[in-house]
This record gives sequence, structure tokens and C-alpha cells, in this order.
Amino acid sequence: MSKKYYITTPIYYPSDKLHIGHSYTTVAADALARYKRQNGFDVMFLTGTDEHGQKIERVAKEAGTTPKAYVDNIVDGIEKLWKLLNISNDDFIRTTEERHVKTVQKIFKRLYDQGDIYKSEYEGWYCTPCESFWLERQLVDGKCPDCGREVELTKEESYFFKLSKYSERLIQYISEHDEFIQPASRKNEMLNNFLLPGLEDLCVSRTSFKWGIPVDFDDKHVVYVWIDALSNYITALGYLQDDDSRFKEFWPADLHLVGKEIVRFHTIIWPIMLMALDLPLPKQVFGHGWLILEGGKMSKSKGNVVDPVKLVERYGVDAIRYFLLREVPFGSDGLFSNESLLYRINSDLANDLGNLVSRTVAMVEKYFGGTLQKGGTATPHDAEIEAVANGLYSKVNQHMDELKLPEALEEIWALVSKSNKYIDLTAPWVLDKDASKKGELQNVLYHLVENIRIIAVLLAAFLPDTSATILKNIGVSDDALTSVDSVRAFGALKQTTVVKMDPIFPRIDVAKELESLEAETAKTAKKPEKKEEKSEALPQITYDDFAKCEFRLAKVLECEAVPDSDKLLKLQIKIGDEKRQIVSGIRTWYSPEEMVGKTIVVVANLKPAKIRGVESNGMLLAVDDGTNLALLTPDKDMADGLRAR
Ligand code: MSP
Repeated sequence: MSKKYYITTPIYYPSDKLHIGHSYTTVAADALARYKRQNGFDVMFLTGTDEHGQKIERVAKEAGTTPKAYVDNIVDGIEKLWKLLNISNDDFIRTTEERHVKTVQKIFKRLYDQGDIYKSEYEGWYCTPCESFWLERQLVDGKCPDCGREVELTKEESYFFKLSKYSERLIQYISEHDEFIQPASRKNEMLNNFLLPGLEDLCVSRTSFKWGIPVDFDDKHVVYVWIDALSNYITALGYLQDDDSRFKEFWPADLHLVGKEIVRFHTIIWPIMLMALDLPLPKQVFGHGWLILEGGKMSKSKGNVVDPVKLVERYGVDAIRYFLLREVPFGSDGLFSNESLLYRINSDLANDLGNLVSRTVAMVEKYFGGTLQKGGTATPHDAEIEAVANGLYSKVNQHMDELKLPEALEEIWALVSKSNKYIDLTAPWVLDKDASKKGELQNVLYHLVENIRIIAVLLAAFLPDTSATILKNIGVSDDALTSVDSVRAFGALKQTTVVKMDPIFPRIDVAKELESLEAETAKTAKKPEKKEEKSEALPQITYDDFAKCEFRLAKVLECEAVPDSDKLLKLQIKIGDEKRQIVSGIRTWYSPEEMVGKTIVVVANLKPAKIRGVESNGMLLAVDDGTNLALLTPDKDMADGLRAR
């Protein structure tokens, strides 16, 4: 019986604004799912959509339609996008499907009956225009963090889930299972920032909107967010349904692959829900980093250059898959720019891989009429290249086990480069000139074709179409020669007839392409809404007024993201001899890593404040035009602590 492997992506919010960054989780999960299948696992790969909530209710109303009609349309687009990206999911769960709705109701009732969910009152700050509740610590300067308007303290009847009851058990579990939260840094963040300080019970129902799963024993309430969303991983398998065979087969999941911002929900709320339901926990939650857009936040309003459909139309699905899988170091952030995308396509795909295949096929055609047998006369360069080919599968396998997808690709490219170098070293065109070297020529071309076969087989999980095209190019179709078993060692291919084809990745004229992309951006990007700067100047102040503000230079010593916020950074700064902490909403434009070492200007005598519960002792200065933001920094190297006057 083959081993089971259950892998999931998060379920996506139905948005017509999915950008290339959103494709990352799904493409990475797809490569892992394909790799496991190729290695004999019986895989269940799940993705889907997270369709409820107040926001959808509001947007649908604004669009003059029902929430269901609104989401149906968008979900259709998401499913098409996954098809376009060659995503091989085995199931697609929508949280509006009956199998999900009914099961979530059963889960909610069960947790209520056993006393883990109880009714109480939710006190929060309500923003009427946004129809949203906020906690005190989420407010920004006492105002709505979304729209900046006044909020009112309001009470709403709600059900709560007793997270606190299970927190000790979860702390123990996480401490004893290093593999559960990966990368390890995220495990420490969960323990230190959330679990050890103590968990508050979680509000799990709402009465202020209707677009959600009704609590069936109290229909004033709808289930609120996480109990609905997280349950998808088991409702899709048939949990608490007539046919729960898939649940029995595949639960617990081997891997929940999620973006770093939702690790918390998957490693705190989800395991506690499972503990309360008396179910085993998933084996691993892996929080990957983000694809960040150079020069600002990744958003569809940046135009076609970040639209995955347009990118696939322009460069082909495998170029985009390759870029995503190669460019984002697993677990950390990666940068997206037109230049880096074009560089990868030209250098790795067109030059290195594409040329290797087309040169080799052309030489087999030219020197051997297209058909090549294993054998010939050895050259002094064979041993080295055979060693790389022989070790490749186990290296790739180890990286894939550790979810290091870029490293796995790097290993495959090491054989690509070695093979190109082997062509230069052996110079087949010179061997061809000397009839006595025919045996060597045959042996050289055999090494190249066999290496290309190994490369193509191992690329199948990452670039499925390219892998199939290359195998066709080198005339390999037999299952025995496309299996991973056949690439454990060099030399399984006995004979082949190549098929000449067009280049797999045509070279791009980078300068021309960049120009065209810029024009495209100008055409398709939403024009930045220029921030209305107040036209009338502020009243004049005296020098004494100005002198009350203490602007000082500060050096950034450390910087990290504030958990549960995609806008805030927490900075440890040094102002002369003094060290302190400030919080700033600049994360959209600056990563924590790039902040470290910068000299910035801070208002040093601003009263301390708590932003999202994090103490901030001062404020950095920056300008923003509604789209971009720039820090104010001295234009020469100056010591921190100095005062601006
Ligand atoms: N609906 C929730 C998940 C519920 S799971 C029970 C959600 N949806 S989402 O549509 O906002 O995000 C889906 C996935 O896209 C997440 O894994 C998120 O991290 C990922 N990404 C969104 N933008 C991204 C980048 N710029 N880069 C990489 N991944 C990004 O969260």
C-alpha cells in the first residue's frame, strides 16, 4: 500500500485582485504535491476559497448583487487561474458548499455542547462606515485602523471559544514537536509572543451581519471567521459526513503550507480546535515568506505586471512557476521585479537549460542522423559529470523533504551548468572533424542526452510542461525512463531518437521588454490617488514652538514585524547613548532587514504610545504620496543622537 500524503494551501479570499504573490502558496504546494506523487505517495492536495464575512456582504451590496452571486463569479476566476498555472489539486473546497456548511454547524454545536464554546458579550470599538469591530489595541490613535474615522464603544452578544483551556497542552505539544511549526523562528514567535503571555478566549460568532454559516441552534448568530475557515481542511475530507473514508485515509495532514501572516491561526486556533474535537494535529505547519514588489506593496492596482494571468500569457506558465519557486527562499521573503523575472527567464531558462537541450538535439541530428546508442569511447571529463548526475536525485530529495524548493532547483541547475561546460570541454564539433574520434563523439552526446533526461525527470514537479517537452525532444516516453527510480543512477537510457523542436524558452530582448512593460504599467496601473495635502498652510509658529520638538538622528539596531499586522514594524534604535523602541507603519515599503543599519530622523520627545499593544517611544519621519513612502535620512554620514535644527 502506498504512503499517504495530505497537503493543503490556505483557502483564498474571493478577490478579483489576486496578484502574482498570491500564486506563490499554491504553486509551491503544487510542486510539493507533484513531487510526492512522482515518488510513489498517494497524494491528496487541497485548495479552495474562504467565502464568508462582512466584507463580502458589503462589496456584493455595493455591486448590487447577492453575496453568493458575487463570490460565484470570482471563484470561477480563481479556479481558472489555478488551471492556467497547472495546479494539480485533487479537490477544491468552497466554504459555501453544503458539505462544509453542515459540518461546521456540527463542529460548532459539538464544541458548544461540551462547554468549549460559551455565550457572552463582545465589547469592542465599532466603526459605522466600515461596519467593523476593533479591539482597543487595534485602533490607531484611537481611530479606525482601516479608514481613520471615529469609532464607538459597543457591545455585541457573541459566542466565545475557550482557547485558554487548552493553551498549556498546546505549549507542551509545540515544545515537544520541533517539526510542528516551521521554520523554527516562527515557532519561537508563536510561543513567546502569543502562547506564553496567555491566550484570550476567541470571539467565534457575530450578529451584526448575515453572510456566514448560521449557528443552527441560535440563528441570530453566524460563525465568525476562523472556525469556519480552518475547518475546511477536514470538511473537504468528509469529516462528520456519511462518507468519511477520505478523512480516515488522509487525516492528520502532513503539511499545511501557509503565508507567514496566518501561521498564528494555524498553529494556535487550529490545533486547539482539533484538541477540543479529540482529533490528531497536523504534522506540520510551514509559514512561507512573501513575494514583495520592488518599490512598494504588491497589489493588483500595480497593473498587468503583477497580474498572474497576464504574466503567464506573456512568458508562459513554466517561466512564472520557475521564477516563484526559485526566487523566494523558502521561509523568507523574495523580491519581484521585472528585471529579476526577465533575468531568470533569459539566463536560467533560455540560456542554460534551453540552449543545452537545443544544442544537444541539434548535434545528435547532425552527427548521428538523430539516433544515438549508449556507448562509445570514454573521455577524461566523464567521471566528474557522472558524479554530479549520480548524486542529483538524493540531493533534490533531501531538499524537498526539508521544503527547500529553491535549493532543489539550484541542484538541478548545477547539472545543467556542468553539462554546458562539458560541451565546451569536449568540443564535439572538433571531435566530428576527426573520423577516429567518432567513438568519443558518441560518448559525449550520450552523456548529454542522459543528463538532459535526468534533469527533465527531476523537473517534472516544478515545470511539468517543460519537463514533458524536453522528454519528447530527446525521444524519451517509456515509463521506465521517466520515473524517479530511473534517475537514481546515471546510464539507464540505452538508445534514443531525438525530435527537433522550437527552442523551449525563446530569449527575451530585455531592454525592449522592460520598455514595453513600463508602457504597460503606465496603461494598466491604477493612477495613484494623490494624497490631498491641505492647500492652506498651517498657522505660523515661533522658533520657540519649533524648539519644543526634538528631532534627532537615530541608528536602527534591530527591526522586526509586529505580529498580526502587515503594516507595522518594531524598531530598536539608538539615539546617542540611549536605546529605545519605536513602532512605525512603514512595512509596506521597507522590510525589517533593510531597515537595520539605517540612520533615520525621529521625533524623540513625542509622548510614548501603544500601537497595537506595542510600546512606541518616538516617531520616525517619512513622506508619502499615497503610493510610495520615503524615509527622511541625513544626506551625509552623521552620528546618531545629533539634533536637527
Ligand atoms: N482566507 C485566508 C486563509 C484562511 S486558511 C484557513 C487568507 N486568504 S488570502 O487570500 O489572503 O491569502 C491566501 C494565501 O496567499 C496566503 O497563504 C497568503 O500568505 C498568500 N499571499 C498573499 N500575498 C502574498 C505575497 N505577496 N507573497 C506570497 N504569498 C502571499 O489568508
